[in-house]
Amino acid sequence: MLAQLDAVQSDALAQLAAAADAAALEQWRIAFLGPKGELKSMMGGLKDIAPAEKPAVGARLNQVKVALEEAFKQRQESLGASASTKHVVGPQIDVTEPGLVASWTLGKRHILSRVREDLVEVFARMGFVVAEGPELEDDEHNFVKLNIPPHHPAREESDNFYVDDPRTTVRPRMLRSQTSTVQIRVMETQRPPIKVIAPGRVYRPDTVDATHSFMFHQIEGLCVDQGVTMADLKTTLLSFARAFFGPGAEIRLRPSYFPFTEPSAELDMKIAFRPDQPARWVELGGCGMVNPAVLEACGIDPEVYTGYAFGFGIERIAMGRYGIPDIRMLYQNDLRFLQQL
Ligand code: DAH
Repeated sequence: MLAQLDAVQSDALAQLAAAADAAALEQWRIAFLGPKGELKSMMGGLKDIAPAEKPAVGARLNQVKVALEEAFKQRQESLGASASTKHVVGPQIDVTEPGLVASWTLGKRHILSRVREDLVEVFARMGFVVAEGPELEDDEHNFVKLNIPPHHPAREESDNFYVDDPRTTVRPRMLRSQTSTVQIRVMETQRPPIKVIAPGRVYRPDTVDATHSFMFHQIEGLCVDQGVTMADLKTTLLSFARAFFGPGAEIRLRPSYFPFTEPSAELDMKIAFRPDQPARWVELGGCGMVNPAVLEACGIDPEVYTGYAFGFGIERIAMGRYGIPDIRMLYQNDLRFLQQL
């Protein structure tokens, strides 16, 4: 029996050393120290042993039991320690945990689209209808019929995105540099009374900085009918300013020159973009009475009809209204910017 105990002890210790994880360790514990384990069954065998030998065998049995329990504890600790070093390698992921995003973020229309819609809405209430024209235009609509003669500085190659060579092409195509082209498109195809508003993109090869972009947006207005006067223009612009920016808005017309209007004016609006800011004069664009030469070029009799036109930049309004310091922010689509508006 004593020899058997020695064998059990060395066998148990060898197996313990080989147990490499918690499951193997537990199996070992059940096999040797468990209630139906090796030691328990040997204790059961004590009763068959000669009484004289009992104390020695009993003592040895106890020794083996204590030794195995001690060895088990040590092995458990060293395995546990290496198991916890394993944890350091990477976090355990609980796939049942709720995600970090608690709800879906809804998208919304871009700030320029919303300002454009607001502008159209205000003019629509004054009876203007939305008109459109192509962004790929030709010089006839961008210049000729707008009374901008050949060799006018506005036609400079360096100031326009020509698609065809203007020196060798009869009617060179270009990306439109102004929405005034839509005035021509409308007057070519419609007869007065005309009352249209035309928002859209325009292109100019400007160097990009905080206030310039090679592409930006304008909104163009045109009204042609019998007896239309400068007073109608001013009334329309003032009504627009008050409807769009609030009842305190004021407008100011400064004499200017555009080939397609006569007389022409620069349009300023005194706007408090935010309630906490004082109102200030902001230049929004140009306006004037449609030049009779333009009406005539479109087949409208300037002896019978008169008209007014205006055009201003949409970015400038958006930037003023929302306190945007740099035009590039409107095109970069940085979520941190977009989510604020
Ligand atoms: N097209 C002009 C520009 O881009 C703005 C403008 C001035 C539009 C006078 C008009 C107008 O309709 O009458 O600078």
